[in-house]
Amino acid sequence: MSKKEIVIGVTGGISAYKTCEIVRYLKKNDFGVTVLMSTEAAEFIGPLTFRTLSGRPVVMDMFAENIVWDPCHIALAEKADCIVVVPATAHSIAKLAVGLCDDIISCVITASKAPVIICPAMNDNMYNHPAVQANLKMLKKFGYTIIGPVKGRLASGKCAVGHLADIAEITRAIEKTLR
Ligand SMILES: Cc1cc2nc3c(=O)[nH]c(=O)nc-3n(C[C@H](O)[C@H](O)[C@H](O)COP(=O)(O)O)c2cc1C
Repeated sequence: MSKKEIVIGVTGGISAYKTCEIVRYLKKNDFGVTVLMSTEAAEFIGPLTFRTLSGRPVVMDMFAENIVWDPCHIALAEKADCIVVVPATAHSIAKLAVGLCDDIISCVITASKAPVIICPAMNDNMYNHPAVQANLKMLKKFGYTIIGPVKGRLASGKCAVGHLADIAEITRAIEKTLR
């Protein structure tokens, strides 16, 4: 049987470094993992880390000439068995809720029929803002699975809901989706 293919979208949140553990776990458990990053995500963690952990090139620029798949976003959308956005910023959640496709992550998700898992992580006031709540409600309506956020220590030092869900909970949700 061929490997299950998981596409991981990393967006620009402070918890982006935690996605490394998820990629490492999936690779170790014999899943094929392709990492996509927003430009802002690369402010928090370097693509080289994900390239090394996944053993595959990281896609950030869908217009790059050296992209192996042509057109990259459609090929990735079709081959994915599951797409996970972790961490998912308020910004990326808003884009997905309205179908705004201006980067590789939003294009792949919008072009795919694969199950989508969204793992929000942000400041608690951002998370509780009616706009973010309405956008998350819309993503649930699309059939996306939302994991977290949970209560925990945020970048501000405050303990509140906005913390990325536990890595184990996220990997469990991925495996459940693939079953
Ligand atoms: C230090 C720092 C930490 C940030 N952490 C978060 C975060 O955890 N969650 C979030 O939604 N936005 C966070 N932001 C804001 C996003 O980086 C910003 O909205 C960005 O445009 C997101 O782009 P993307 O969704 O395309 O990756 C942070 C910004 C800075 C400067």
